[in-house]
Amino acid sequence: MIEVHGYAIVSDDDRIADAQGRMPDALRSEADWTYFQQELDRSAATVLGRLGHEAHPNPRSRLRVVVSSSVRDLERRPDGWWWNPAGVSWSEAGRTVLPSGGRVAVPGGRRVFDLFLGIGYTAFHLTRAEGVSVPGGTALFSACDNGVTAETVLAGNGLRPGGRRILDPVGPVSLTVWQR
Ligand SMILES: NC(=O)c1ccc[n+]([C@@H]2O[C@H](COP(=O)([O-])OP(=O)(O)OC[C@H]3O[C@@H](n4cnc5c(N)ncnc54)[C@H](OP(=O)(O)O)[C@@H]3O)[C@@H](O)[C@H]2O)c1
Repeated sequence: MIEVHGYAIVSDDDRIADAQGRMPDALRSEADWTYFQQELDRSAATVLGRLGHEAHPNPRSRLRVVVSSSVRDLERRPDGWWWNPAGVSWSEAGRTVLPSGGRVAVPGGRRVFDLFLGIGYTAFHLTRAEGVSVPGGTALFSACDNGVTAETVLAGNGLRPGGRRILDPVGPVSLTVWQR
């Protein structure tokens, strides 16, 4: 049994990056980063897009599954497993990567967040940089580009929100964990 936990920090308008595809400073939060690192310590693997993998070094050598169309299906490389969802299903890839099951952390980006909507999240840890908007930026889920809120998408995926927790009173930066 594999648990899938999504993690994102978004603006009020549900954006994860700016119009150039970069993460704006307004979406960077030390408190959220600390929370995310603690959560990674509780996870058996991280599933992330190729660009995120290349942009973020992995000093603790945590097990990564890199989503990419550059491999045929699932391939073990020195820097982790490389997975093409068009070549092999998540259930098969997950069984190979974590034969005893466990928890995976999914930190995006958008196509990866969309992909796991179809697979089903066990939980989604939604951090919000309140008071921040990023016009024209990259949406958390592609449905958010059509005016659907992140909350509506998560509820439609069968998740329910827990309480709002303040990670940083400056902003504030708040966290809501949505659970199945
Ligand atoms: N605010 C947040 O919480 C948050 C979270 C994540 C990312 N971001 C930011 O978002 C920005 C954009 O990230 P990104 O979305 O461009 O990068 P990304 O998701 O890390 O990487 C995109 C790449 O992943 C691969 N990929 C993703 N989904 C795939 C699929 N279904 N099938 C096959 N390959 C797939 C493709 O690689 P190939 O080209 O090799 O096929 C694609 O080019 C960055 O600035 C990042 O910092 C913010």
